[in-house]
Amino acid sequence: MRALKAPPRGPITASVTAGQASFTQFGCAVCHVATITTAPAGTVINAGQFTVPTALGDKNIHPFGDFLLHDIGTGDGIVQNGGQGTRNQVRTAPLWGIGARTRFMHDGASVTVSDAIARHGGQASTARTNFNNGGATAQANVLAFIFSL
Ligand code: HEC
Repeated sequence: MRALKAPPRGPITASVTAGQASFTQFGCAVCHVATITTAPAGTVINAGQFTVPTALGDKNIHPFGDFLLHDIGTGDGIVQNGGQGTRNQVRTAPLWGIGARTRFMHDGASVTVSDAIARHGGQASTARTNFNNGGATAQANVLAFIFSL
């Protein structure tokens, strides 16, 4: 699993490029971060269970997610691995490969990306409001961008 290739991106059209700009401007990229650099080779993680090999160390990856816990109002009271305070937090879903999925959010309860965006509240309220107020063209561009990932 660790060595699986990231899914290839779709065509980068003008709409996709504009959509990425709006995605960043709306604040989506605060959590759905474009680039993460993996830990250096030799780093020991998971309480000593795994040493990052050269092939995976110090690489720039583009998951469009920060893998961190956030409360965007979709939590279901299940405590995550950070104590009681995490009971309504969920990890940011990476958006890469999203075109291959048919159900969204941790509970699979959204069958469209638009619905998944509409469910963003809590810490993501401002970004959702910006998206909702962004106009039909920007919204369509953001969707084109997301489906290119
Ligand atoms: C405060 C952090 C945060 C911000 C800002 C944010 N998101 Fe998210 N996003 C999340 C989290 C956390 C999840 C997973 C929620 C869950 O599974 O219940 C998620 C899930 C998603 C998903 C579903 C992915 C999947 O495969 O299930 C989409 C699509 C998405 N976000 C798009 C957006 C867009 C577009 C914006 C900007 C309007 C945005 N997000 C802003 C944290 C954020």
